Amino acid sequence: MDQAALSPNLMIGELPIYGQLILAPMDGLSDASFRWITRKLGSAYSVSEFINTLDYANQKSYEKKRLLFREAERPFAVQLLDNDAVRMAECAARIEEEFHPDMIDINMGCSAKSVAGRGAGVGMMRNPQLVRDTFRLVTQAVNVPVTAKMRLGWDETSHNFIELSELAVENGAKLVALHGRTQKNSFNKPARWAQIGELKRRLNVPVIGNGDVKSVADAKRMLEETDCDAVMVGRAAKANPWIFSWRDRDEVPVQEVYQVARFQLEDMIRLQPERGVMPFRKYLKAYLDPYEIPREQMKTLLTSNEPEALTKLVDDTFFSLGARAEEQQIIDYSIGNE
Ligand SMILES: Cc1cc2nc3c(=O)[nH]c(=O)nc-3n(C[C@H](O)[C@H](O)[C@H](O)COP(=O)(O)O)c2cc1C
Repeated sequence: MDQAALSPNLMIGELPIYGQLILAPMDGLSDASFRWITRKLGSAYSVSEFINTLDYANQKSYEKKRLLFREAERPFAVQLLDNDAVRMAECAARIEEEFHPDMIDINMGCSAKSVAGRGAGVGMMRNPQLVRDTFRLVTQAVNVPVTAKMRLGWDETSHNFIELSELAVENGAKLVALHGRTQKNSFNKPARWAQIGELKRRLNVPVIGNGDVKSVADAKRMLEETDCDAVMVGRAAKANPWIFSWRDRDEVPVQEVYQVARFQLEDMIRLQPERGVMPFRKYLKAYLDPYEIPREQMKTLLTSNEPEALTKLVDDTFFSLGARAEEQQIIDYSIGNE
């Protein structure tokens, strides 16, 4: 696609974004391999798994692994998580110097008790001063646009997403992504979209809607109902990365599923050999879910530890479902893959 010939769907500061579906950042899921697959399938930009800047400042090596991305994956945002504005700003500057991301995103949504309890993630939403300081200092520390990802608020009595979005924007934020839940209704109640529309009407920077988009129809409905600029898809993307090319899972031929699974297994091992095949299992299970694989066969697939043996098992399983080895790549994931 010749992007120069198209007009962008939204601008994040001066950064043009082409497309309206984006993979949501997900700890343990939106790693470099999966993000690359979703970008190839149409996700408009990438956001890293959160970088805990407390750990980053203490030079924990695994945080650097989470910063890996391919040049062709740009635009790439690094997401920061912390409860300390100065530390986030210092780490943002170091990350910009070393990794050159296109954006810095501030996590104001993580609801895990250990995170929110110390005032990071959604815990930031209880501390407007921290929100003000974070956006002011981080935008001063880096040259790239800074964005926010937040929830509706801490609980039903404190929906302060409008006030905090305005505060973030006054202090330099160039986009707000809103997940239509509070900390308290972590994942158990349906996400509310009306508030996404409310925010869109109030802000003069782009708004991304997020929460419970499971199908193409959902994504279209969120865009229509809220007039948001783009939609972030989280959990549903694990089983259906093809949603980023506006396809529901039942529209995807087994050959394409096979090619993604095969690429992803190889790529994950190549990028992080020390983690072995284990992190791949959750995707494999999700990809195979629609095919009613016999329980014993599934168990063998999901307990295999050895990359070569698992590759063979994946091949055999998909061949038995009608995929073929020799068929041309429908999407060549290796192109741009440096
Ligand atoms: C396993 C998991 C990990 C997540 N990790 C992050 C994260 O690192 N940063 C973040 O901003 N949100 C994180 N989220 C929240 C998602 O980005 C998203 O806001 C949420 O899942 C709602 O979207 P969905 O209904 O499409 O899944 C995570 C969600 C899940 C399920």
